Amino acid sequence: MINIAYKIIFVILLTSPQLSARDMRALLFDGNCATCHFPTKADSAPSIQEIQTRYKDVFQNKKDFVEYMSEWVAKPNMQRSLMSQAIKKYELMPEMGYSLDTLKEISSYIYDTKF
Ligand code: HEC
Repeated sequence: MINIAYKIIFVILLTSPQLSARDMRALLFDGNCATCHFPTKADSAPSIQEIQTRYKDVFQNKKDFVEYMSEWVAKPNMQRSLMSQAIKKYELMPEMGYSLDTLKEISSYIYDTKF
């Protein structure tokens, strides 16, 4: 009985229009990046707000922001870093092996969100 109830709730969640593309992108960010990048507080890595501000200073439009960030995260490296001070302070971010498409979703979420 309880099992059936869970299944029904699960189906409702899956088909719910409330679980929008935006929520999916938020889940991707929370599950993969937020362990190191806190919203506003820097700890083992710069805060995501700090990164967003730096990237928005450099890129005036969303397309360039998303493209550069997703490619950088796909292959973190010193040469193309926009935050070389952060590398000195925390070390280079590890490479995590996500697909570029996933990273574009996450980068677009970072662009759109007020942290
Ligand atoms: C294990 C910890 C860790 C995780 C997980 C992590 N990062 Fe980072 N990230 C760092 C550290 C440390 C830095 C600062 C040093 C650097 O720039 O490489 C950084 C820097 C960055 C930068 C700045 C790049 C630059 O120009 O130097 C971006 C953008 C970024 N992270 C995005 C992400 C995204 C998106 C995710 C999730 C897909 C993520 N990070 C997950 C540790 C992490």
